[in-house]
Amino acid sequence: MQDFWIFGYGSLIWRPDFPFLESRPGNICHWSRRFWQGSHDHRGTENRPGRVLTLIEREGKRCHGRAFRVTKEVLAHLDQREKNGYKRHDVSIQLPSMRVAGIVYIASQQNAAFLGDAPLEAIADQICQSEGPSGSNVEYLTKLADALKDLRINDDHVFRLDALVRKKLDLDTN
Ligand code: BEZ
Repeated sequence: MQDFWIFGYGSLIWRPDFPFLESRPGNICHWSRRFWQGSHDHRGTENRPGRVLTLIEREGKRCHGRAFRVTKEVLAHLDQREKNGYKRHDVSIQLPSMRVAGIVYIASQQNAAFLGDAPLEAIADQICQSEGPSGSNVEYLTKLADALKDLRINDDHVFRLDALVRKKLDLDTN
């Protein structure tokens, strides 16, 4: 059986909707999580796109997430689920006890839905106002932030956005 490691840094961390052979904490070098990808098919609409995660190259930074060992059929499922601008990239994933070759899905600046940087307040407002077929953009952000906290992963960009959005919507802070 052919198996692959996939590195999850976003919704794969809190909603792995596929069977996996094993899952471990992992990290990859020189990448950072950012809410810079537009979403008109999952967490927003054509008229009101939401903002979801992609990875941006950042020399010397490490992105912490969760790695999954999966079969080839699961890769086909993920290719379909993440078709709006995301492409597979080969990466080296550091697991607790070893380094493995793997795959990560990244939406690059070249894809049509890429939104890029904006003031954090503006990103938070956009997240508060967006909803799509997969649910609200707020859910996507807050579930990710909760999952990162559970895994003891610190991410300034995500936690600052989470705090802003919770304040704007008067949600519980934790
Ligand atoms: C992830 O959770 O790793 C992920 C994020 C965006 C697209 C595909 C996967």
